[in-house]
Amino acid sequence: MLIVLNHKMNFTKEEAISYEKVINQKSYHDELVICPSMGYLSLFQGKNYRLGSQNVSQYEQGSHTGEISSTQLRSLGVSYCLVGHSERRKEYFEDSLSLNQKIKWLLKSNITPILCLGETLEERQSNLTEDILKKDMTMSLANLSHQELEKIIIAYEPIWAIGTGSVPTNEMIENTVKWIKHFWCENYQVQPKVLYGGSVNKQNYLTLKTIPNIDGFLIGSLGLQAETIQTLLEQ
Ligand code: PGA
Repeated sequence: MLIVLNHKMNFTKEEAISYEKVINQKSYHDELVICPSMGYLSLFQGKNYRLGSQNVSQYEQGSHTGEISSTQLRSLGVSYCLVGHSERRKEYFEDSLSLNQKIKWLLKSNITPILCLGETLEERQSNLTEDILKKDMTMSLANLSHQELEKIIIAYEPIWAIGTGSVPTNEMIENTVKWIKHFWCENYQVQPKVLYGGSVNKQNYLTLKTIPNIDGFLIGSLGLQAETIQTLLEQ
């Protein structure tokens, strides 16, 4: 399993340092990826997890104030990067065209892109989930080679489940993940890893883990508690 923790905009520097000390005390059977706030990337250099970034610039280099490039991320030891998290799509108007650019630069820098996708509640209720995911994947993954596609991970995150406490049933997740994998096989002849994200918590973690075709989880608020994560990953 691949467990990705998205810290979003949390922790002071001191809190990040003590979190890192706790999380790096143990080695984990699952592959653990931590995506701290951008300014703390160099504080997370432990051996028992991999480093992820929450974002990357759509540009390769140059005059882009406030941005960080894939090459810079690589030089900080980053091996994974979230692309198109729903908060970035909503607050920073990220579209598939820029996500496509981001994915290309990340792959060039040897960083694994984790493309985040998901439908709103209205779209789910109107049976539009598959249409939305299809449109998004087709545009975000345009013009990538077979070799490049093989390196991409999908995080299926229904927007209505992120930070809300509402979680789809295991059956709903299983069916959507199955559909995503089928879509990839048909269109790209690649079987991607698919993670689930959205309100994963202490209570539902073990049940969600029983979904047969899930390759891991993208976790927000639960991931802020280092000791809880340690305990869950030991189970
Ligand atoms: P959550 O966040 O686990 O707090 O719902 C998930 C995410 O934003 O990826």
